[in-house]
Amino acid sequence: MSDETKHSINNCSFCGKSKEDVEKLIVGDSVAICSDCVELCSELITDEIKNEETPEPKYDPEAIKNFLDQHVIGQEDAKIVLSVAISNHYKRINNPPKDLEIQKGNVLVIGPTGSGKTLLAKTAAKYLKVPFVVADATSLTEAGYVGDDVESMITMLLNAANGDKQLAERGIVFVDEIDKIARKGESTSITRDVSGEGVQQALLKLVEGTTCRVANQGGRKHPGSDMNEIDTKNILFIAGGAFVGLKDIIGNRMNGTSIGFGATVKDNKIEGDLSKVGPEDLTKYGLIPEFIGRFTTTVSIKELSKEQLIHILTDVKNNYIAQYKYLLKLDDIELTFTPGALDQIAENTLKLKTGARGLHSEIERVLMPHMFYTKKYRDNEIKVINIDRDNVLEPKALI
Ligand SMILES: Nc1ncnc2c1ncn2[C@@H]1O[C@H](COP(=O)(O)OP(=O)(O)OP(=O)(O)O)[C@@H](O)[C@H]1O
Ligand SMILES: [Mg+2]
Repeated sequence: MSDETKHSINNCSFCGKSKEDVEKLIVGDSVAICSDCVELCSELITDEIKNEETPEPKYDPEAIKNFLDQHVIGQEDAKIVLSVAISNHYKRINNPPKDLEIQKGNVLVIGPTGSGKTLLAKTAAKYLKVPFVVADATSLTEAGYVGDDVESMITMLLNAANGDKQLAERGIVFVDEIDKIARKGESTSITRDVSGEGVQQALLKLVEGTTCRVANQGGRKHPGSDMNEIDTKNILFIAGGAFVGLKDIIGNRMNGTSIGFGATVKDNKIEGDLSKVGPEDLTKYGLIPEFIGRFTTTVSIKELSKEQLIHILTDVKNNYIAQYKYLLKLDDIELTFTPGALDQIAENTLKLKTGARGLHSEIERVLMPHMFYTKKYRDNEIKVINIDRDNVLEPKALI
C-alpha cells in the first residue's frame, strides 16, 4: 500500500466515524480504528478473559472444603461448618425460592489469634470469586459519631467489586475483632467500652438486609454514577473474634458454677471448650441477643499444634519457606532446613502465642544474618545455606 492510500483513510473501518468525530484514529496499512472502538474491543477481550478464568464455582460443601484444605491447615470442623454455611448461602441466592422465605444465616468465627479466622473467610471468597473486604469492628461507630459508620463497609465492598453493584451485592464482608465491641458483660472487665453496644445495634439492620446508599468512588465500569443503592440482603457477613475469656464462661456454665441457685462447685473442673459455645455464653460475653440471633452459624477454631505449624511452614500454597527460598535463589543461594530446625521454629512460635503469625517473625529472625550477607556469600562462593536446630537457637552468618 502506498503512503498516499494510508493517509487517505479518514474513517474508522469498524464504526465508520470520521477522524474529526473521534478522539484518535489509528491508521494502519489498509484499515483504521478509532479510540472508541479500541476501548470497546479491549473491554470485550477482558470480559472474555474473565469468563475463561472464571469457571462457575461449585457450591457443594465438599468442593469448597477441598479448596480450603489447600490453603488452611487443620481446623477441620470449622472448614466443614463454614463450607456448608457458604454453600447454603449461595444456593439460596442463586435459586431464590418462589413462595418460601429462606432466612439468611451469617457466620460467626471464634478462636485464638493467628489461627486462620481471616484466612478461612478470605480463602472462601477467593474460591467463590466474589468481592471480599475485611473491616475492623473497633473502627466502626454508630451513625452520627466520629469515625466510620457501619455503611462504610458496603462502600469498601463496592470498591472491591470495582464499582459493579451486582457483584458487590453477592460479596462477603468479614467483620474482624467483633469481640471488641462486646458491651460490658457480667463477667468481663468493667473498663470495657460500653459504646460497643451501639455499634452492634447499628450492624443489625445491615447484616439482616437493608438498602444503603453508598458513594461509588470511581469504579471503572460505571464511572458516571456517583451514588449506588446496595441491597445487603444477599451479602454474607462473617464476624470473627478471638473472644479471650470466653472459654472460662463456657467452662463455668458447664461446671454449673455460674451465679444462680443450685450452683455446685466441682473439684474436677471441665475446661471450657470453644466448640461447645452457646448463645448464652456469647450474651454473657457482651454480644446483644439480637446480634447473636443474626449469626446463625458459629464456627470455632482451635489453637494450632506444633505439627500444624510445621505444615503451614512447608505445605500450604505460598508458604513462608518457599517464599524465602525464592528470595535467596535470586542470589543463587539454595536454602534448606533440617527437620530439627523446623521443629525448633515451630516450638519457638508456640511460645509466642500469636498462632501462625509468629512463624513469619521467627523465620525472619533466623534468616536475618544470612540475608544481610548475601553479597558476601556470593563473593565467597557460598551457595547453600542449610539451617539446622542450632542455627535456629542461635542464628549467625556463615562468615
Ligand atoms: N490454619 C492455618 N493454615 C495456614 N496458615 C495459617 C493458618 N492460620 C493462620 N495462618 C497464617 O497466619 C496468618 C494469620 O492468620 P489469620 O489472619 O487468619 O489469623 P486470625 O485467626 O484472623 O487472627 P486474629 O484474631 O489476630 O485476627 C495468615 O495469613 C496465614 O499465613
Ligand atoms: Mg483476623
